[in-house]
Amino acid sequence: MQIDILTLFPDLFEGPFSQSILKRAKDKGVVTICLHNIRDYSKGKHRTVDDYPFGGGAGMVMMIEPVARCIESLKEKTNYDEVIYMSPDGELLTQKVANRLSVLKNIILLCGHYKGIDERIREHLITREISIGNYVLSGGELAAAVLTDAVVRLMPGVLNDETSALSDSFQDDLISPPVYTRPSDFRGWKVPDVLLSGNDKEIAKWKHERSVERTRQRRPDLLDDAGF
Ligand code: ADE
Repeated sequence: MQIDILTLFPDLFEGPFSQSILKRAKDKGVVTICLHNIRDYSKGKHRTVDDYPFGGGAGMVMMIEPVARCIESLKEKTNYDEVIYMSPDGELLTQKVANRLSVLKNIILLCGHYKGIDERIREHLITREISIGNYVLSGGELAAAVLTDAVVRLMPGVLNDETSALSDSFQDDLISPPVYTRPSDFRGWKVPDVLLSGNDKEIAKWKHERSVERTRQRRPDLLDDAGF
């Protein structure tokens, strides 16, 4: 998969993309992430990328020209499955959305800033808008990093044990069961006996029951989706 990220602050991605699973995915060639500085596509003398809103109002608006130029130059070389604008107004990022995005070949993620982007970009160049939650961030960069992480870890060959993505919380609309490791007794705080029993069937049953119980307690809204 190729992910092209359009941003005014490419350095913001340095940390999340240079560590852990995302780094491994890049090193293995499972994903190519290209950062594009929108400012490089401004023709203004001062590389301007924002301007005052028509009709007045607070804040600045990201201008259409640099963004359009950047998207169109990428589209000349590559066919994109989706051109996604990271926005608090968008469809909520869920595990289902991440699963669906993880099978695509090429996507663009556009990160907004200031008061937003010129509406004509959304009307004519964007195919989808995604939010990572009902709160407003200073820009779309952190949201794009979250989406990238959620999507890339699902791609084959990224996680060591491929089944471990399948057993993530939310994969089957259930929260994951509790997990434990050595020692089996710490200050008298004991690991449940069943996990030490070696009985795979009983262990699987226990895990499923704990998942359902935990979901009922913490996220009962998910159980409707799972048909419980
Ligand atoms: N940009 C600002 N806030 C955002 C959010 N909650 N999700 C995605 N992009 C955003």
